[in-house]
Amino acid sequence: MEYPIVVANWKMNLTLSEALILSGQIFRNVENIKHVDIVLCPPAVFLYPVIDGLRTKTKNLYFGLQNAMSEKEGEFTGETSLNMVKNVCDFAIVGHSERRRLFLETDEMVNKKVKFCLQNSVKPIVCIGEQERFHLEDHFDKEIERMKKQGGILTQIDTALEGVSEKDLSKICITYEPIWAVGTDNAASGVYAAAISYIIKNHLKEKFSDHASDIRVLYGGSVNSQNVREFMMQPNIDGLLVGRASLNFKEFCEICQIASQVKSGNTSFKDN
Ligand code: PGA
Repeated sequence: MEYPIVVANWKMNLTLSEALILSGQIFRNVENIKHVDIVLCPPAVFLYPVIDGLRTKTKNLYFGLQNAMSEKEGEFTGETSLNMVKNVCDFAIVGHSERRRLFLETDEMVNKKVKFCLQNSVKPIVCIGEQERFHLEDHFDKEIERMKKQGGILTQIDTALEGVSEKDLSKICITYEPIWAVGTDNAASGVYAAAISYIIKNHLKEKFSDHASDIRVLYGGSVNSQNVREFMMQPNIDGLLVGRASLNFKEFCEICQIASQVKSGNTSFKDN
């Protein structure tokens, strides 16, 4: 088993000085939080100043892009190339629901990005999620069918991972983010998130047999210090993607602390 992973998605928030203060506060606090891998995803323009401001690197603190272009360079106005963040970013969020909804990213584009990340030694954090809550308790078979339809979460996974080799599976995180829970105060319950993670893991097992367990499945959507325990207690949930709560250092460090306590005993990404 690996350490749980907690990803901070700052989205398009903060000024440069706020980003430097927040990263400094997080840095000083996470030094003492063991057994959890923490990934900070600031706006791309703040990455280098934030990293420079930290002076030394904590073992379990990593950086990621919130979005990555699937090409090395060229006529792609406004995009960020993985080549530009070489040696500083270990991760990239790919296919976040806001990218899909506002910037019309398709499953095929997500697949290109996943493969490009892997070619460039960056670990993709692939987001998937449904618009409307599943009702597994009443309509289990029907809801599984919905997951397998065009745009359904299992189809999102299948397309995102098309052409990915088995040896790369351990570098992939699938983040289950129900769209109705993102940016609301309406998180899924731990039991609900665990049930969907179980379905995702089962699906991965059918696809990749033994290698399926190499893929980590995270939950995202209104995670905070009050509900984090509920998610981390679930054996099928390997980590979290945190939006708003990652902008408050006390809240975020508490989330990391609780994730570490609940899952302690696991080993880190570094050990792979
Ligand atoms: P939230 O965002 O925690 O603010 O709901 C999560 C996300 O979009 O990744």
